[in-house]
Amino acid sequence: MLSTLALAASLACAPMFAGAAPAAPADTAAPASANPATAADRQAFIDSLIGRMTLDEKIGQLRLISIGPEMPAPKLMEEITAGRVGGTFNSVTRKDNRPLQEAAMRSRMKIPIFFAYDVVHGHRTVFPISLGLASSWDMGVVEKAARISGQEAASDSLDATFAPMVDISRDPRWGRTSEGFGEDPFLVSQCARASVKGFQGTSPANPDSVMAFVKHFALYGAVEGGRDYNTVDMSPQRMYNDYLPPYRAGLEAGAGGVMIALNSVNGQPATSNKWLLRDLLRKEWGFKGVTVSDHGAIDELLRHGVASTGRDAARLAIEAGVDMSMADTRYLEQLPTLVKSGAVPMSLIDEAVREVLNAKYDMGLFQDPFRRIGRAADDPPDVNAESRLHRAEARDAARKSMVLLENRHRTLPLKKGGTVAVIGPLADAQIDMMGSWSAAGVPKQSVTLLQGMRDALAGKGQVTYARGANITDDPRVVGYLNFLNWDDPEVVQDKRADGDMIDEAVRVARGAETIVVAVGETRGMSHEASSRSSLGLPGSQLALLKALKRTGKPLVLVLMNGRPLTINWEKENADAILEAWYPGTEGGHAIADLLFGDANPSGKLPVTFPRSLGQIPTYYNALRIGRPFTPGKAPNYTSQYFEEEYGPLYPFGYGLSYTTFSMSDVRLSGAKLARDGQLTASVTVKNTGDRAGETVLQLYLQDVMASTVRPVKELKDFRKVMLAPGESRVIDFPIGEDKLRFYNTSLEYVAEPGEFNVQVGFDSAAVKEARFTLE
Ligand code: NOJ
Repeated sequence: MLSTLALAASLACAPMFAGAAPAAPADTAAPASANPATAADRQAFIDSLIGRMTLDEKIGQLRLISIGPEMPAPKLMEEITAGRVGGTFNSVTRKDNRPLQEAAMRSRMKIPIFFAYDVVHGHRTVFPISLGLASSWDMGVVEKAARISGQEAASDSLDATFAPMVDISRDPRWGRTSEGFGEDPFLVSQCARASVKGFQGTSPANPDSVMAFVKHFALYGAVEGGRDYNTVDMSPQRMYNDYLPPYRAGLEAGAGGVMIALNSVNGQPATSNKWLLRDLLRKEWGFKGVTVSDHGAIDELLRHGVASTGRDAARLAIEAGVDMSMADTRYLEQLPTLVKSGAVPMSLIDEAVREVLNAKYDMGLFQDPFRRIGRAADDPPDVNAESRLHRAEARDAARKSMVLLENRHRTLPLKKGGTVAVIGPLADAQIDMMGSWSAAGVPKQSVTLLQGMRDALAGKGQVTYARGANITDDPRVVGYLNFLNWDDPEVVQDKRADGDMIDEAVRVARGAETIVVAVGETRGMSHEASSRSSLGLPGSQLALLKALKRTGKPLVLVLMNGRPLTINWEKENADAILEAWYPGTEGGHAIADLLFGDANPSGKLPVTFPRSLGQIPTYYNALRIGRPFTPGKAPNYTSQYFEEEYGPLYPFGYGLSYTTFSMSDVRLSGAKLARDGQLTASVTVKNTGDRAGETVLQLYLQDVMASTVRPVKELKDFRKVMLAPGESRVIDFPIGEDKLRFYNTSLEYVAEPGEFNVQVGFDSAAVKEARFTLE
């Protein structure tokens, strides 16, 4: 962080804007020439800047600097003052960023720099990880989490966020599954839209908004074998139909930026992929914003083996359409001579500079470079002050993000009374509540499960605690997880013998009426570069669960993890399982709210849970095949794995409630759909239980016969509804031609005539069906 870099903040100095205009104090209206109201004026303004910039100043705008040890403070100030920096990331306070912007105002052109950060699911307040937010199937929740995160980030002087991360992931071995919104093109696209809207508000220029950089373009979630940074090789149909829609949705929602993926796409790294960045992104989709490489990715073109020198790498990247280079020196070192020798035309540089300046313009920085930095006198005395947090909103989002997977004999909700034994390596782990990419979140401000249970039972019952096990006994895994932070390790092993820890936990459990045990993965296990080759709970945790099971006490599992896990034993043996993901700052309170029934679980899985590693991939919307497995028929010569039961452990869209719901058959408003017409599929949903609750009605469509193989089903719409006990409601899903379209083998976006199955259900597996014909 910058604070450690000891930069002197010149508090008395009134911020100066110049650019092409005279100096203006931060809070006064900027001169008209710097604040043109129309796009045409913006163009003229930017053109005039570019016209007066030297080549070195232009190249400077293309540099996005990671603040950290590789760029010491004095050097950074020097670089900014020399006009050699376009933006920075990783410094997150006004106090740290003010002197940097002041340095930019001392540069010859006085072009403001922008400040970015990975505000993915929270800033000071940490919301549930994106996979959790997607589990809410509530776009209001997704948008609000992004809105508050954006506001908090902006009030800490940030102008942009490297989010949302909208990579479809169908392979849970990939550690970054946790950062995305799951496996489904429609759901992830909805989340992408909601997030961008939240981060940017009505405009990224608003002082309380940040510009969203949709990432990672493209297909990063499809790395082979789920191994991070691995290659991606994919048919155009799969790309267009499944993996590309979420990026496009984020851009259509107005995202100002795109971060380019680290992987290659069909043999060409995304960072040097002209087809991806120019033909698809710019020409086909009409994207007008700025592109940034991922960390060091231009340099990595050498390791990909498509560039033999740094000069080559810089040339390939700029030719492909990478506007800004993140955290490498190739543009700085190579572009000047590339341009002077004529190998790279100045027009390419100007084009990239124009995107960067446009983005700064759209962030409102030319109106006022200090619009999010403000005056020193207004700086928060304590950036981590409790008053700056949005605890109530985080608690609400966390309640809605959790998925009830099992609830035998109505074990849940628990009664508030007696003694509850809270056990497990994640029961009191503040840092893990936050999940990965937890931005400026502070672990000591997050509420653990233990604390949440204590608060809920205060004055009404007892909470006892034992850790019971380490997250893993494998020193290699612990070494990996602590590799980057040996001074302050995230995974701290309890030195006691396993047996002693389990004995203690069993003693604690015997003295209680119910056991609540928190197991799963530390946050580092579901992170960038944390690919796994197994998806079960580590042995130490399973041994603990088995010992607790032997006590005969009701066993409630709270799972904290960032990907689907293979939890077969747990499913059979636990009395209840709540999937809490990494629920954020208020996670412990939200879990307790659900366990005690102060809130009713309503989350639904945005990813399929496999039975075993060997089953992967298990995404629900697979293409149809010639020899499918048919339930109730002999499996021989059908597509399945013969040693285990067919199908996933938990299907996409699945999740229980403390109440029950029934659904009528699907009624269609007609049997035929005209090209310009609309049908309505309706169901009546009823709360058949004894308490109010929310559920999600999911609409799937299947193209019965087409010119190319189509998926078994695809999510096309959903509604989350709250119903009082006994209440019923009719839910209408409009169906027009738009929902039937797909990219055919010629990549035409068509709806072909013929029959379609309409399926409606509470998850992707248990559905009711009707059929219509598109004329
Ligand atoms: C690398 C990650 O892949 C990307 O998601 C992130 O935004 C950048 N580092 C910057 O932190």
